[in-house]
Amino acid sequence: MSKKYDIGLGHNDVTLRKKADSDYVSFWDEQAQNLSWFSPWEKILDWNPPFAKWFVGGKINASYNALDIHQATKSDKPAILWEGENGDSKTYTYGDLFIEVQKFSNVLKSLGVQKGDRVTIYLPMVPELLIAMLACARIGAIHNVVFSGFSAASIKDRIDDSKSKIVITSDGGYRRGKIVKLKKIIDDAIKDFEFVKHVIVLERTKNEITISSKDKFWSDLMANVSSSCDAEKLDSTHPLYILYTSGTTGKPKGVLHETGGYLTHLHSTFQWAFDIKDSDVFFCTADIGWVTGHSYVVYAPLLHGATQVMYEGAPDFPDMSRMWDILQKYDVSIFYTTPTALRMFMKFGDDIPNSFDLSSLRLLGTVGEPINPEVWKWYYKIIGKEKCPIIDTWWQTETGGMMISPLPGLETIPLKPGSGTLPIPGVKISVVDEFGTEVPPNIKGYLTIQNPWPGMLQTLWEDDEKYKTVYWSKYPNCYYAGDYALKDEDGYYWILGRADDVLKIAGHRIGTAELESCIVGDDTVAESAVCGIPDEIKGDVIIAFVVLKDGIDIDKIVLEKKLFEKIRNDIGAIATPKQIYFVPKLPKTRSGKIMRRLLKSIGSGELIGDTSTLDDVSAVTEIQNIVKQQS
Ligand code: WT7
Repeated sequence: MSKKYDIGLGHNDVTLRKKADSDYVSFWDEQAQNLSWFSPWEKILDWNPPFAKWFVGGKINASYNALDIHQATKSDKPAILWEGENGDSKTYTYGDLFIEVQKFSNVLKSLGVQKGDRVTIYLPMVPELLIAMLACARIGAIHNVVFSGFSAASIKDRIDDSKSKIVITSDGGYRRGKIVKLKKIIDDAIKDFEFVKHVIVLERTKNEITISSKDKFWSDLMANVSSSCDAEKLDSTHPLYILYTSGTTGKPKGVLHETGGYLTHLHSTFQWAFDIKDSDVFFCTADIGWVTGHSYVVYAPLLHGATQVMYEGAPDFPDMSRMWDILQKYDVSIFYTTPTALRMFMKFGDDIPNSFDLSSLRLLGTVGEPINPEVWKWYYKIIGKEKCPIIDTWWQTETGGMMISPLPGLETIPLKPGSGTLPIPGVKISVVDEFGTEVPPNIKGYLTIQNPWPGMLQTLWEDDEKYKTVYWSKYPNCYYAGDYALKDEDGYYWILGRADDVLKIAGHRIGTAELESCIVGDDTVAESAVCGIPDEIKGDVIIAFVVLKDGIDIDKIVLEKKLFEKIRNDIGAIATPKQIYFVPKLPKTRSGKIMRRLLKSIGSGELIGDTSTLDDVSAVTEIQNIVKQQS
């Protein structure tokens, strides 16, 4: 094996892996002791497949572990170095956050929020988003954060499914120099919901908004409220949050995470992966609206009392130098971003990053989608100057935290560009075939997780049955991740993309079924199939195939525009296809299943392979001609 990338940070703790391999349950028991508990647990793991309860009987609070425990030693230490897209900046120390969170906890209480109630949060990347989440956690309310790029229809579903009494939003948010009018989107989303009692409005952009009787301003509510609110002593298994994510069928699923196990997973992985030290400045570019932001912007850095940069806007605004400017300005030492962002930066050449002083960097990370080896090498050489290990971290909304990643804070192993290397200690991954049998090295199979792990989702919100079917029915007592992977001769894992009908577009997860039903919702459309085709920057982009109802005669350009608009309104801009092809019929198997694999090959101009199961081969030739004409 090439030792070219064999750089580490001096750690080599072999005992930890040994312990984890011999008994993962007592291993996690030890890891949980790194947190502050109000009272200890009686049982480490209650595993009633597929339901796991970690640290049963233990009492804990996430907000207490993020804030209270640091007050004696770090109240003056910056927790958040916030940079607005428009150049605003603000620092919150651990002391400041402690006060703001307690005040906002009292605000929530004064509006009748109780333990177990759901609170939907629809805010841009501003510190108040994190403050609102920690305030929910403090009083035992369950936060439901919705990415601020989602449309009114998407947020409506999420508010409805979670039956949130309270919605927190802002007048607007900045994105690429423009104001996104979040409050207006909320007004549309909640107009039929009597169960929503209050809307809390943060004034961020000061754009004009319509005020209704439910609306209350953040600043008014915070003006006269006590700054002291003790953290609730919650069960370890108390739900911390719901986060909706796209799956293979229908509407997004409410992934439910609990408290004690989740925090244990985050505390340990943040230490092992990022080797976090008191002097570090951490910067994760993820929006808090996604799981990476929940886990590695909000909870993990704060558990460790770390200092981090939080950035509000687009990574390329006002130009391609914005990220490097931030790294230089704040002396960032640990940088965690996505392959899509890196591909974009790489395309604009080396001169831009080379004109900044990036010498404070000591560790680099990536997440969300497979990273191309050439992009990995560029990151390593041009950004890390061949002195920073790169951690390629594989995990999911459902896993809560990292599952496969190099761990420079724990051990030094040779890195391979494009591989996430090994599972974290205490987690057993297996690549299996259709029947659940482990496949030999270098053979592609399905990625599965063999044991429960502390960060794992508790269930899907009010849908235990779906939880069982989606993740635990393909293989008995074993978690099905939905990804293809292979394990090489050195035991390193390579993630090969989704094995199910979930698309990854610029690292964002989009369900084909959700998108197709949105398109079919238009009254001119009879049938639709969508798939992803490779893209230089985004990894994959969406193309859609649409069959119109009989007798519909409409200008295709007008209809394409209308469908784009519908997708943006029903889901959000991230789900917009690159191209819509209007075709006479879709390729189907004799049993009537749409062959998306074929569409993907046609769309990317590849050979189409085996068509023996196809019902009508002429469909393919026609589609090929249409695609050729339009490309
Ligand atoms: C899916 C999960 C992990 C938090 C952000 C995304 C893909 C994630 C990697 C990686 C290759 C990756 C997988 C996974 N994915 N990380 N390092 N290499 N693929 O969370 O939206 O729940 O998506 O993202 O396909 O299943 P998510």
